Amino acid sequence: MQTVSTIGGLRAALAALRDRGPLGFVPTMGALHNGHRSLVEASRRQCDVTAVSIFVNPTQFGPNEDLSRYPRTLEADLQMLESTGVDVVFTPTPEVMYPAGASTVVDVGALGDRLDGASRPGHFRGVATVVAKLFHLVQPQFAYFGQKDAAQVAVLRQMVRDLDIPVELVVCPIVREPDGLAMSSRNRYLSPQERRTALALSRALAAGQALADSGEVQAGNLQRAMEAVLLNEPGLKIDYVAVVDWKTLLPVDAVKSGALLAVAAWVGTTRLIDNAVLAAR
Ligand code: PAJ
Repeated sequence: MQTVSTIGGLRAALAALRDRGPLGFVPTMGALHNGHRSLVEASRRQCDVTAVSIFVNPTQFGPNEDLSRYPRTLEADLQMLESTGVDVVFTPTPEVMYPAGASTVVDVGALGDRLDGASRPGHFRGVATVVAKLFHLVQPQFAYFGQKDAAQVAVLRQMVRDLDIPVELVVCPIVREPDGLAMSSRNRYLSPQERRTALALSRALAAGQALADSGEVQAGNLQRAMEAVLLNEPGLKIDYVAVVDWKTLLPVDAVKSGALLAVAAWVGTTRLIDNAVLAAR
């Protein structure tokens, strides 16, 4: 495994490997867990070369968000990636990604202002900008993302389409702890008590899913069922509870297969998200 932190180093490392076959790319912010590992494994299965980036992207954090305390565990991350068979790891500094004077951004329009984009103004502009840059640097045939960040997937699909970027996005299922909590680098922030409170997110989704499975199609009723679970949990503050079309991120009235149940909530000072896609019926 080669670890490179400059653009020249990345290009040279990939140039030497590209003729082996399809290149798969997994962008991350590090503090890696089994959710990230599942993306790497998917790339390893599908591609001959796998590249991973670890970059805590400052432009996707708001001024009062957790950029400075975001967990950084580079050594453990590299060990995990090595053992998973990754070929190249790109670990740039902010100065490498955003040299002084950099000013061009990628703005996906209204889609970027929905769900997490509504609570985190500018977040998806930062995500789209850094992922566009990474796609140009790595030039992968396939790029792997988690359904965990469902709105991010919608935004990046729009960007790839609008900018004609020749990459296929592969969306991988949400990896959960045994008790249902969606894995997240931010779970490390939670105290034992908050960790128990956080289970309400997956329980709320399960309640919405169960109601849908029983034949309920009114999005408002599914939303209320999810809200009821979250409102019942002291120590948790709802950010959003939504039933949306996964492509447009706009609310739907009546659900059909493929509708997205999405929740975001604050547990103490930690903001957590989770979602479920309704199965075909
Ligand atoms: P990060 O939060 O590190 O996540 C990297 C990738 O791992 C994302 O595609 C995310 O959806 C996926 N992921 C996280 N938790 C997961 C889980 N429990 N199961 C499955 N996949 C999971 O998302 C970002 O970084 C950044 O926004 C990035 C795309 C790297 C741009 O900076």
